Amino acid sequence: MSEDAADVTYGSYLALDKLLELQRPRSAHADELLFIIVHQASELWFKEILHEVDLLVAAFVDHEAEFALFRMGRINALMRIVSAQLSALETLPPQHFAEFRQHLGSSSGSQSVQFRAIEAASGLREPHFMNVLQEHGPIPAVIQRALDRPPLQDLYLDLLRAQSIELEQLYMGERPTTLFFLAEALLEYEQQFGQWRFKHVQLVERVLGPLTGGTGGTLGAKYLARTIDQKFFPALWAVRAKFYGSGA
Ligand code: HEM
Repeated sequence: MSEDAADVTYGSYLALDKLLELQRPRSAHADELLFIIVHQASELWFKEILHEVDLLVAAFVDHEAEFALFRMGRINALMRIVSAQLSALETLPPQHFAEFRQHLGSSSGSQSVQFRAIEAASGLREPHFMNVLQEHGPIPAVIQRALDRPPLQDLYLDLLRAQSIELEQLYMGERPTTLFFLAEALLEYEQQFGQWRFKHVQLVERVLGPLTGGTGGTLGAKYLARTIDQKFFPALWAVRAKFYGSGA
């Protein structure tokens, strides 16, 4: 069924007829389109991030440090884009959102399967996280796939072990190595993720106020603020303290 290359157009290549059909506001409010588009665009970027994480995992498994570094550079660029997109919704005044919020029903970003898959792949797997996942029924395949692989920190530490290098050694040498830059790129990813979380909390406070509950049934901004401290790579954070006599 593949289209003859000569017949491919901008619209057919990108399936724009389908893509541009998918924004369906449920109210007559002019701002609902923006709300839908920012969420859909974020989900598209999540899809690309998950694809990059697959390739990153493969690079780790093959002990290809340079290639892993290349992937991390891209993932970090994507995370910056996802955070920046939230700015568009900072222009959504509360009285506008209030006019179409009832149309969301109980739908909530907390049900984003791709977001949970990114968290799981990155390393959030503690019992509370797993319980929350299971509350909504069987674990979706994209999350299960992430859970079936070691978390990114373990993959990185395996790479070091294969070269008989201790994490601390990377931070001792005068000359930074590829493995050092890779550790720093993972840390930057953690920071970028935290920045998304922080920006999202601020957005929620701005639109809903600090005390309004979410459509997903949480305490809203208060709940979200508590998620900011979660860490994917505790070992990379702990190694810093070793230089100040308070090492873990
Ligand atoms: C006006 C804009 C937004 C508001 C008012 C808002 C509100 C909320 C609230 C209150 C929660 C907590 C769960 C709940 O009880 O519903 C939440 C979670 C979440 N939202 Fe948003 N949100 C907005 C925009 C976005 C955008 C653009 C995305 C991008 C995909 C997003 C993704 C998420 C995710 C992934 C969670 C789960 C976070 C976690 O549990 O760590 N949100 N949102």
